[in-house]
Amino acid sequence: MSGDIVSRRGFLVAGAGFTGLTVGASAVEIVTGVGATSESDPTQMGATESLLTDHGVLKRILLIYREYIRRLTADQDSDPAALFHAAQIVHDYIEGFHEGIEEGFVFPRLLAAGKQTSTVRELLTQHDRGRKLTIKIIQASTTMKMASGVPSPGFASVTGRKDLSRVLSQFVAMYEPHEAREDTEVFPGFRSIVSAKEFEDISRQVRKIENSRYGSDALAGFVGAIADIEVSVGINDISLFTPTDN
Ligand SMILES: [Fe+2]
Ligand SMILES: [Fe+2]
Repeated sequence: MSGDIVSRRGFLVAGAGFTGLTVGASAVEIVTGVGATSESDPTQMGATESLLTDHGVLKRILLIYREYIRRLTADQDSDPAALFHAAQIVHDYIEGFHEGIEEGFVFPRLLAAGKQTSTVRELLTQHDRGRKLTIKIIQASTTMKMASGVPSPGFASVTGRKDLSRVLSQFVAMYEPHEAREDTEVFPGFRSIVSAKEFEDISRQVRKIENSRYGSDALAGFVGAIADIEVSVGINDISLFTPTDN
């Protein structure tokens, strides 16, 4: 694990790494559960269920990225603005919020317990690399400062299209195994080392952070935005993914 990642995780636990998050309780309170009550609300999602649902959001964005890879490689017309919007959702919600929750609540518990340490360290490296790739995708697909009729940098030339396609491919290739590993090993491992009370407290804190940042129905808002992007790139009909019955 690089020093950067170690120190970034340290900041997260100390409460300085939740980029842009406004948290009602201090990070120390979050990590220790101080200030949380033990009331249970069965209508609310638990922290890991919420993280799993976020992975569904990310999977739909990976499908959008795949479509852009196909179009860029085939030199087909494609809209930079829709890709820019998808990458902004990754930057804001997936990297800024979802990964902040993993880094602030889930990974530190596993590391402290000596469980899945090499996997967690690699996942932290992947978060770091993913954020760098997302900045490249945003820069390549931006329409800001572009004169009317001038394409975005990642769409303007054969080299630009090739570079953008490579960056998108790296992102998709990394995040498919990343989220699969989290779903099947990391989140179940986390659940196995926290008590029911602790899990309930953490879940409440996660909902509080999410509500303060995005309002009470973040998931519906992001899914709606992604569905609109899917329509604009022509992959909204789920039957497109069904093979013909041979
Ligand atoms: Fe992750
Ligand atoms: Fe994740």
